Amino acid sequence: MKLRVYNLCFLGFGNVNRTLVRLLEDRRQELREHHGIDFRITGIASRRLGRIAHANGFDSAEVLAWAADAESGWSRTKVSSPQEPQPHDVRSWLAAADADVLFEATSLNVETGEPAIDHTRAALEHAAHAITANKGPVVHAYRELRDLAAAHGKRFLFESTVMDGVPIFSFFDELPAIHLHGFHGILNSTTNLILGEMETGMTFDDALKKAQALGVAETDSSHDIDGWDTAVKTAALITVLMDHPIRPHQVARDGIRDLTPQALRNARRDGWPFKLVCRAKRVGDEVRASVQPEKVRATEPMARISGTSSYIYFETDIFPGLAITEENPGLYATAHGMLADFIRAVG
Ligand SMILES: NC(=O)c1ccc[n+]([C@@H]2O[C@H](COP(=O)([O-])OP(=O)(O)OC[C@H]3O[C@@H](n4cnc5c(N)ncnc54)[C@H](OP(=O)(O)O)[C@@H]3O)[C@@H](O)[C@H]2O)c1
Repeated sequence: MKLRVYNLCFLGFGNVNRTLVRLLEDRRQELREHHGIDFRITGIASRRLGRIAHANGFDSAEVLAWAADAESGWSRTKVSSPQEPQPHDVRSWLAAADADVLFEATSLNVETGEPAIDHTRAALEHAAHAITANKGPVVHAYRELRDLAAAHGKRFLFESTVMDGVPIFSFFDELPAIHLHGFHGILNSTTNLILGEMETGMTFDDALKKAQALGVAETDSSHDIDGWDTAVKTAALITVLMDHPIRPHQVARDGIRDLTPQALRNARRDGWPFKLVCRAKRVGDEVRASVQPEKVRATEPMARISGTSSYIYFETDIFPGLAITEENPGLYATAHGMLADFIRAVG
């Protein structure tokens, strides 16, 4: 099989993109043998690192060492780049790195989606595929970026934005000419974990500490607890799969702050445990969406979603009910969504 070699750039070098670099290196042989794909890492950028580029490709061992060092706060390595001074903006960085693919994994800005939208736009205008784990570009600029990608003959893909890389968006690519009427589910690990712990008597604060220690809570945990994370994911699913652009603040939203351990224990005992449930339903030309704690019957699949697992149930005209459960994912699941998007984009 003839190998095609792609120049890869990573914008944001936190948990997701560092894990993706490790996964790519781990699967390099498989990509070569089964997909005819090889790659060079030619650009890495973050706020603290700045923008480094090397169009001939950085040494893999060096990149893995940077990933380890970034985890411990950039304490050991002096990262140097053949491009000195560093490119002054994302566009010149993509040009210096001769990018074929951008992996965008910067922090989410719920209100505007920026600067991730601009990063994505820059990649597509550079004629690189844009792959993001950041929900901002999906909920604030999906149609623009989809059309921009098409105009440049490239792909804008975002499988890792909802359910950590479980192929939800591409699942619907395999279901052509189907109509999605609505969905419901549990999409946030932190709140699901906290509710489960509080049912056993733990206080809210201790349960949150546990979620943070496990590394599942967002840096700003209020984002999870107040339902924003679920609302953004719900908006992303509605925007893309129901072809109905909706912003996160248009999702009726309530978080889990007002639930007490006592209320949660009683609800579980009575056979109606609380879950933070998202719902979307097409009503005429509108889509009604909500995120709120709901009591669900103990025999329903949602009641059995525990810990950091998540669940989604789609209602379509052809299949009345299609459900996906994801059991306790890790960062490699998110990174895998981006790896799979890479193969889809260049395949
Ligand atoms: N973690 C998960 O399990 C998961 C799952 C699905 C989706 N996501 C999404 O994936 C994205 C990344 O998550 P993460 O866990 O990797 O976050 P993270 O560990 O906090 O890393 C974020 C990275 O983005 C960089 N960054 C932030 N703003 C930037 C900017 N304006 N310009 C350049 N770099 C910038 C940060 O740079 P500095 O470190 O230099 O400040 C850091 O390297 C987020 O949007 C998140 O919602 C995460």
